[in-house]
Amino acid sequence: MTEKIDFTIAVNGARHAVSVPSDATLLRLLREDLLLTGAKRGCNQGVCGACTVWIDGAPARACLTLAANVGEREVTTIEGIGEQGRLTALQEAFVNHGAMQCGFCTPGMVMSLEAFLRDNPAPDRSALRASLSGQLCRCTGYSKILDAAMAVVKDRK
Ligand code: FES
Ligand code: FES
Repeated sequence: MTEKIDFTIAVNGARHAVSVPSDATLLRLLREDLLLTGAKRGCNQGVCGACTVWIDGAPARACLTLAANVGEREVTTIEGIGEQGRLTALQEAFVNHGAMQCGFCTPGMVMSLEAFLRDNPAPDRSALRASLSGQLCRCTGYSKILDAAMAVVKDRK
C-alpha cells in the first residue's frame, strides 16, 4: 500500500491540510480531496491540457504534478480566477463569441489563455493560436476561442 503523507497546500488563496498517497497527483488532490472539479482529467498523461492550473502563476499540467511537490507554492484553479462570483473578461468573451465548447477542454483553454494574456498585453491572432498549442480540442476547433481572445485584446486598446 502506498504511504500517505500529510501536508498543507494553498489553493485559490486558502490553505488546506491534506493527507494523500505519496504518489497522488495534484489533479487527484484537487478533484477528489478538495472537490475542485474545474480542472479536468482528459488524457491523464500530459498531452491534452484539460487539467491546466497555475502553480505560482504559471500554467502547469496537474496530471503530471506530484501533489506533495507543490507544498509551499500557490495553486490557482479555474474556480479561483477573477473576482468572487464574476466572470473574467476572457470568460465573458468566451460566452459572447460562442467559445464555450465542451466542459473538458474549456477550463484548460481559459487557464492557458488567461496566463498568456496577462503576460502578453497585445498579442496578434497567430501568437494567440501558438499559445494554445498545448491545449487540445479533438472536435470543434479553435476559431471561436481565438475570436474571444482577440476581443479581449481589442477591448484593451
Ligand atoms: S489530463 Fe493532464 S494533460 Fe491531459
Ligand atoms: S475537446 Fe472540448 S470541444 Fe473539443
